[in-house]
Amino acid sequence: MKTIKIGLLGLGNIGTGTYKTLEMNRKEIVSTLGTSIDIVKILEKDVDRKRDITVSKEKFTQNPDDIFKDPEIDIVIELLGGIEPAASFMLAAMENGKHVVTANKAAVAANYSKLAETAITNNVLFKYEASVGGGIPILGTLDGPLRANKFEEVLGIVNGTTNYILYMMTAEGMDYSSALKQAQELGFAEADPTADVEGIDAANKLSILMALMFDKYVPPTEIPTTGITGVTKEEIAVATAQNCKIKLIARATKLEDGTIEYSVSPMKLKDSHPLSGINKEFNAVFVKGNAVGELMFYGKGAGPLPTGSAVMGDVIEISKAILK
Ligand code: HSE
Repeated sequence: MKTIKIGLLGLGNIGTGTYKTLEMNRKEIVSTLGTSIDIVKILEKDVDRKRDITVSKEKFTQNPDDIFKDPEIDIVIELLGGIEPAASFMLAAMENGKHVVTANKAAVAANYSKLAETAITNNVLFKYEASVGGGIPILGTLDGPLRANKFEEVLGIVNGTTNYILYMMTAEGMDYSSALKQAQELGFAEADPTADVEGIDAANKLSILMALMFDKYVPPTEIPTTGITGVTKEEIAVATAQNCKIKLIARATKLEDGTIEYSVSPMKLKDSHPLSGINKEFNAVFVKGNAVGELMFYGKGAGPLPTGSAVMGDVIEISKAILK
């Protein structure tokens, strides 16, 4: 019986969460697949970093070709973060016949067409569920159970760090920098939190959502984007007095004439709006389809285990296809 072998690129926060998800739920995952599954090689420089998992040192390599050229490896999981070398590594993995799973929204959003085309050309699967909404199964749902719809609108709280900061400033009266520091300590924020607080991370996710929902790829750099660094305590107090919440919203709407309007920016939402009750690091994606109507997906959009859950979900789907 074939076993599934995985090469992992990156054992930082998310890599560790993914490794832990597999170890914690190995029995259930193996029983689902009917065969064993292992992370056999890991590209990571920081071998000695303190992690709450046990990994044998022999698994570590500094040479990506040890993974791409290993004929035993079926799936490459890319969790390096950042656009490069992550995107080139994913392309190289596919060109060597490996299926690819990633949580890396920056690399996917910047190279959406190239990655999708390279997967087709090389007859491999490319999955990136964890790149939008962390643990929320939104992309697979848009592309599967909701595929029969013409999509009309998406409104998303898709960045846990900024939602956490805005929530703490609103509900706890915390100042901006203490709230950001907490979000970083909890492992939600990017290595450089500029991408979170300036709305760039949310724009990456909106770019991926639009490509799937409207079959329209807009590079994130072309999405009008405003972050939360300009949101003041006074604005939050005014919103509260008006029974509103300020949220960072990624939004795309398809107009009657077919054009799509899109932006990422802080928005004042009435307390009665379903997105205004999304607190702390939680994410939610509110979707309108012409057949299904309005739907909202809610869950943890950041953090090692919720993201690890989505990454391993993609790995299991690919493994099932390999084992067919
Ligand atoms: N920095 C991101 C966030 C991580 O805060 O949502 C998940 O993509």
